[in-house]
Amino acid sequence: MATVLHIRATATPELSYSLRAAEAFLESYLTSHPGETVGTMNVAEEAVPEFLGLTARGKYRILRGESHTREEAEAWKGVEAEIERFKKADKLVISSPMWNFGIPYRLKQYFDVIVQPGYTFAYSPEKGYTGLVTGRPAMLILARGGEYRAGTDSAAFDFQRPYLESILGFIGFTEIGTIIVEPTLQGGPELAEQRLAETIVAAREKARTF
Ligand SMILES: Cc1cc2nc3c(=O)[nH]c(=O)nc-3n(C[C@H](O)[C@H](O)[C@H](O)COP(=O)(O)O)c2cc1C
Repeated sequence: MATVLHIRATATPELSYSLRAAEAFLESYLTSHPGETVGTMNVAEEAVPEFLGLTARGKYRILRGESHTREEAEAWKGVEAEIERFKKADKLVISSPMWNFGIPYRLKQYFDVIVQPGYTFAYSPEKGYTGLVTGRPAMLILARGGEYRAGTDSAAFDFQRPYLESILGFIGFTEIGTIIVEPTLQGGPELAEQRLAETIVAAREKARTF
């Protein structure tokens, strides 16, 4: 039985378009995949380990083939716990707002924690970088206040979708789907609700074969 990890990043769940689309996706997923389970990591509310002095030094130690100090090893346990939870899932769903053309900082912090040499990617001079999180699909469910459709001038400002696709690709994901709700602000609430309704229909359909 597969386990889905839903990483949600909205800071305002009561107003969220990405969350409502993700809930519709997951509801449809569970209906069409009875017995499977969904776990949630709410990066806006749950503690994400700090990635500063001790943990950042811990990463450099691994990259240089050195051992952790006692304090670094202690701090590193939090990183390992988060990676274990991430790698345990058979399928990944990320729902996220666009913030300042990219992702909210807590979601970026989460990636700073879980993207680690020897855990989620490997490097060798012969092969270069290799992702270690393989054989599982991911679905990105994204909301943006504006509109960033391919072929328009604003598409160049979209660092949300390309970042998520690139970082997941870096750690080994090859099957990455995308569901987008936009514009959620520009164009007013009526258009936003109409786009959400259209997105939910598509999300429910995609969930059946996820
Ligand atoms: C701090 C912050 C930064 C934002 N930056 C952008 C942005 O750069 N581009 C954009 O189109 N919308 C931006 N928005 C609007 C959100 O992307 C939009 O409201 C989206 O629907 C939020 O996702 P949610 O509805 O799932 O919470 C921003 C909102 C906040 C709170």
